[in-house]
Amino acid sequence: MKLSLLAFALPLAAVAGASHQPMHLTRQAEYKKRMDARMEAMKLETTPYDITKRQLSSQFLNDNSTKFAVDGSKLPNITFDIGESYAGSLPIGSSNASELFFWFFPSADASVKKEIVIWFTGGPGCSSMNGLFSENGPVTWMAGTFAPQLNPWSWHRLSNVVWVDQPVGTGYSTGMPTANNETDVADQFRGFWRNFVDVFKMQGYAVYITGESYAGAYCPYIASGMLDQNDKEYFNVSGMLIYDGVYTEDSVAENVPAVPFTDSLPGLFPFNETFSKDIHDRHQSCGYADYLEKYLVYPASGPQPQPGAMNGNVTVEKKGCASILNDIDDAITAINPCFNIYQVTNGCPFLYDPTGGVYDYVPNGAPIIYFNQTAVKEALHAPLNKNWQLCTDTNVFPKGDNSLPSNQLAIPNVIQHTNNVMLVHGALDMVLIANGTMLAVQNMTWGGKRGFDSKPELPLYVPYHSPGDKGTTAGAGVLGTAHTERGLTVALVAFSGHMVPANQPSVAFRQLEVLLGRVPNLQSLVPFTTDANATQHPAADSLGAGTGPQVWLGGNSNASSTCNGGSGGSGGNAKGTTTSAAVGSWTGAGSACLGASILFVMMCGWVL
Ligand SMILES: *[C@@H]1O[C@H](CO)[C@@H](O)[C@H](O)[C@H]1NC(C)=O
Ligand SMILES: *[C@@H]1O[C@H](CO)[C@@H](O)[C@H](O)[C@H]1NC(C)=O
Ligand SMILES: *[C@@H]1O[C@H](CO)[C@@H](O)[C@H](O)[C@H]1NC(C)=O
Ligand SMILES: *[C@@H]1O[C@H](CO)[C@@H](O)[C@H](O)[C@H]1NC(C)=O
Ligand SMILES: *[C@@H]1O[C@H](CO)[C@@H](O)[C@H](O)[C@H]1NC(C)=O
Ligand SMILES: *[C@@H]1O[C@H](CO)[C@@H](O)[C@H](O)[C@H]1NC(C)=O
Ligand SMILES: *[C@@H]1O[C@H](CO)[C@@H](O)[C@H](O)[C@H]1NC(C)=O
Ligand SMILES: *[C@@H]1O[C@H](CO)[C@@H](O)[C@H](O)[C@H]1NC(C)=O
Ligand SMILES: *[C@@H]1O[C@H](CO)[C@@H](O)[C@H](O)[C@H]1NC(C)=O
Ligand SMILES: *[C@@H]1O[C@H](CO)[C@@H](O)[C@H](O)[C@H]1NC(C)=O
Ligand SMILES: *[C@@H]1O[C@H](CO)[C@@H](O)[C@H](O)[C@H]1NC(C)=O
Ligand SMILES: *[C@@H]1O[C@H](CO)[C@@H](O)[C@H](O)[C@H]1NC(C)=O
Repeated sequence: MKLSLLAFALPLAAVAGASHQPMHLTRQAEYKKRMDARMEAMKLETTPYDITKRQLSSQFLNDNSTKFAVDGSKLPNITFDIGESYAGSLPIGSSNASELFFWFFPSADASVKKEIVIWFTGGPGCSSMNGLFSENGPVTWMAGTFAPQLNPWSWHRLSNVVWVDQPVGTGYSTGMPTANNETDVADQFRGFWRNFVDVFKMQGYAVYITGESYAGAYCPYIASGMLDQNDKEYFNVSGMLIYDGVYTEDSVAENVPAVPFTDSLPGLFPFNETFSKDIHDRHQSCGYADYLEKYLVYPASGPQPQPGAMNGNVTVEKKGCASILNDIDDAITAINPCFNIYQVTNGCPFLYDPTGGVYDYVPNGAPIIYFNQTAVKEALHAPLNKNWQLCTDTNVFPKGDNSLPSNQLAIPNVIQHTNNVMLVHGALDMVLIANGTMLAVQNMTWGGKRGFDSKPELPLYVPYHSPGDKGTTAGAGVLGTAHTERGLTVALVAFSGHMVPANQPSVAFRQLEVLLGRVPNLQSLVPFTTDANATQHPAADSLGAGTGPQVWLGGNSNASSTCNGGSGGSGGNAKGTTTSAAVGSWTGAGSACLGASILFVMMCGWVL
């Protein structure tokens, strides 16, 4: 309240005493002018059109694809033209007993080459419709926002993109889950993919595999499995891009880096003295401090053992070690009851999420979860009897996922074949921690060598861009750190949690431009290919070093942290009005089992 009063009072006082307009007023007027122009442009973009007409002229419309054409005007709440798209189910084999669900958006750029990008949300068992609707799809309806909007950062502006619900059991996909490992997942997906390519006549297309979180297992195995077919007609895999992926043992990804992570963001983890001492003692006694000192180095120092193993027994960790992230989660949730382990700057209140969200918070009077609405299912040719859940209660790996971590063989295989792999990690993600990803990279052998030779320091640069609608504003400038060696790029994204395309959409958009070869690298000053005339700010020699999280030993980085925690409600038990307590009696969904094996059981919840 006080702040906004001040903002109004200041300009008035300044105008009274000045002969020229003060800086902030000029800026406001200019901003308004730009916004008005933009709104005018949006109006043009959103003029309704005859969807059948557009699809009739499409290269993707044929006898077999017609039944999948989506009439966007039938989708509830969407009042604008979503463009040409196709959705529905295709079998994983010759029998229709198990089918995967897809929603495909041809590129809005008609000049795009023969290429297609595939997106997988993680879990295991979380629907890619969530990625489409709140991260990188043409329509976004993010938690806490009023209504769906056109997403200027939609990946389909750059290429043909398909969002797929897999493995069997996930989202709208149908059939009995039978996968026991990632090889099974990859086999199922290839069955589906052949059918998809046949329907849309995509033989010979370059295929880019992308995803997030548990897709850190899916993407490398699926890409690797495709490459092993040696069949460029269907499986010409040309690159892979993963956000905040599961690549290694859970202890490495979560427990080893947990305490330094909280130290790197002190304003967000204000623990009491007793608890702070406890976790720092454990960080030492569990051997995690030594582990980081020995293995979080560049060049890599050698094969990493199982951390925290008791007397070399890899199946037994010392007491209190495997639970360290879980205990931190409990303690921070007592302080900040709406703590979001996927994006640690979040505070109360919980935000309403039309797709259900990760907290299962449904305010009184909220409509049925969007993708569970009959009208939505009908518009998307989805099975009407499927109870759509953001992350399914059904175990998509009935006996667990018995695969080697993807950093052992699968990722190296994809790098070797494509020389075009990008692993990205958000600085504010705590369900998987940036330092854990770097440990996974430093234990990975590709191109004849283990790990990176030097630490990531170059800037991750995002060009300046024309101002968009206020509902879809995105950052520009140096937004993190990036590093490339032997065909692998790692990018660390400042001010982003687990879902980078949601938290820093312009960064993800840029990364896709690089993956697709439109722009040479993440340091390039070339404007966005979709916004070539936007005024650029920095001089070529002034970018400086990267600003991503510091992922090596040596104290806190110079980058400052900011907290945008909202104000809490005033008591009550509903999640909409959660308040903190001195002792953590309420804990976040699934936190009790957070310490369990992330690779196989996934914290009773999911790593989206
Ligand atoms: C599978 O195919 C059979 C035979 O064509 C058909 O009767 C059945 O409805 C199909 N099932 C689904 C789920 O499409
Ligand atoms: C979305 O659609 C539902 C059902 O038609 C309606 O009740 C709700 O108000 C709509 N929400 C918005 C933000 O338009
Ligand atoms: C994956 O599981 C299947 C059984 O579902 C088994 O036949 C196959 O050997 C397993 N693959 C690997 C690499 O473990
Ligand atoms: C495409 O349609 C033709 C008949 O119109 C059919 O023979 C063929 O099996 C279909 N292919 C796919 C992949 O559905
Ligand atoms: C495979 O994709 C690449 C792009 O990565 C393209 O240059 C090449 O022509 C494609 N190969 C075939 C056989 O389609
Ligand atoms: C990564 O670990 C190192 C070593 O403990 C620490 O100095 C650094 O702050 C950590 N960075 C983050 C982002 O956790
Ligand atoms: C590190 O890589 C080696 C293979 O080079 C593997 O045996 C070991 O299990 C890996 N360590 C961890 C902690 O994943
Ligand atoms: C490791 O610990 C397990 C569980 O306590 C025990 O059954 C096993 O014998 C131990 N293995 C070794 C090599 O000590
Ligand atoms: C300090 O924090 C720990 C962890 O949340 C909690 O168990 C303990 O009760 C707290 N101590 C005080 C005095 O609040
Ligand atoms: C989804 O819809 C079905 C009925 O179509 C209902 O039984 C189920 O409870 C709904 N699920 C959620 C999470 O709203
Ligand atoms: C960008 O500038 C060029 C040269 O001035 C002009 O021809 C082109 O139309 C502009 N493009 C857009 C999208 O405004
Ligand atoms: C912080 O920035 C200063 C000035 O640029 C530099 O001298 C110092 O080395 C930096 N410290 C760290 C830990 O990066």
